[in-house]
Amino acid sequence: MRSDANIAGPMADPVPGPRPADSDPVPVPPAPGNAVSRETPHPMPRPEETRVVVVANQKGGVGKTTTTVNLAASLALHGNRVLVIDLDPQGNASTALGIDHHAEVPSIYDVLVDNRQLSEVVQPVRDVEGLFCAPATIDLAGAEIELVSLVARESRLDRAIKAYEQPLDYILIDCPPSLGLLTVNALVAGAEVLIPIQCEYYALEGLGQLLRNVELVRGHLNPKLHVSTILLTMYDGRTRLASQVAEEVRSHFGKEVLRTSIPRSVRISEAPSYGQTVLTYDPGSSGALSYMEAAREMALRGVGIHYEPGTAAHLVGQQQQQDQHSMSEGLQ
Ligand SMILES: Nc1ncnc2c1ncn2[C@@H]1O[C@H](COP(=O)(O)OP(=O)(O)OP(=O)(O)O)[C@@H](O)[C@H]1O
Ligand SMILES: [Mg+2]
Repeated sequence: MRSDANIAGPMADPVPGPRPADSDPVPVPPAPGNAVSRETPHPMPRPEETRVVVVANQKGGVGKTTTTVNLAASLALHGNRVLVIDLDPQGNASTALGIDHHAEVPSIYDVLVDNRQLSEVVQPVRDVEGLFCAPATIDLAGAEIELVSLVARESRLDRAIKAYEQPLDYILIDCPPSLGLLTVNALVAGAEVLIPIQCEYYALEGLGQLLRNVELVRGHLNPKLHVSTILLTMYDGRTRLASQVAEEVRSHFGKEVLRTSIPRSVRISEAPSYGQTVLTYDPGSSGALSYMEAAREMALRGVGIHYEPGTAAHLVGQQQQQDQHSMSEGLQ
């Protein structure tokens, strides 16, 4: 967990030397074409302590992985040190971050099932300084069953994270679309739950079950666990359905819902096939700008600073219109 010791290992700091003290100004590495970092008065302040955020929703395809990797990249591009833990046997987060995760690669499976140290499996992400990934391989598909007979089966990830000595500002855990033992391990390890909700029909269906599980884990295993963040994803401003869903989610959850929502964007869906996040793939796109803005909102909330939509929020709107215009032209 976070400490300013600079311990060499697979995840050693790419820039050797001690980490700047917390009181130092947050370094903002220039990101190519990154309008947000240049124009916003507040970048993304680092939290006092490592924030462990579980990105969960047992519904498939709602944007968990996309949200995990793009928020992580946004935070890292603004001077935070971020670890993504891929807890989904599909390994989509590892793919999106360009991390090798074929069967022989040391992975989160080895940590959960074979008591390997997290530091032995973490890899740095190419292109984004300060961003790291603990990959998932196909082995993880068997872990749900193998974990059942192991000691402390629900808290193995928590134990591994607590033993991890690299300094980190955020750990984002990408969960599979189920509420099995892998997701329970994430809920025991984290303090915050981030629920991406796709702005589609049935968006809220099944959420009750997830919220009940959060309550159960909080009651029995992890008293600090709470739903801190809801993010609306794949928002299509042209449809009435999207705004109805957004309204329903906001009236149901209130202050947990980020004011920033993520538009449907072709760039976001293209990026993983290049082993990239949208932040490096197309930094000026509406998808990149909106994830950058959502990360800023999350970071400011974490340190208790009131969030005001920045210039980027307007840019997102403009860029979205342009994207949609070129998309409909492409369809003609
Ligand atoms: N804002 C967006 N605009 C366009 N496509 C998106 C957007 N967000 C996600 N997608 C696409 O939707 C699909 C599902 O997204 P993603 O894999 O992030 O969901 P998930 O919840 O992690 O899925 P699973 O439950 O299978 O793990 C992917 O093909 C992704 O590229
Ligand atoms: Mg996923």
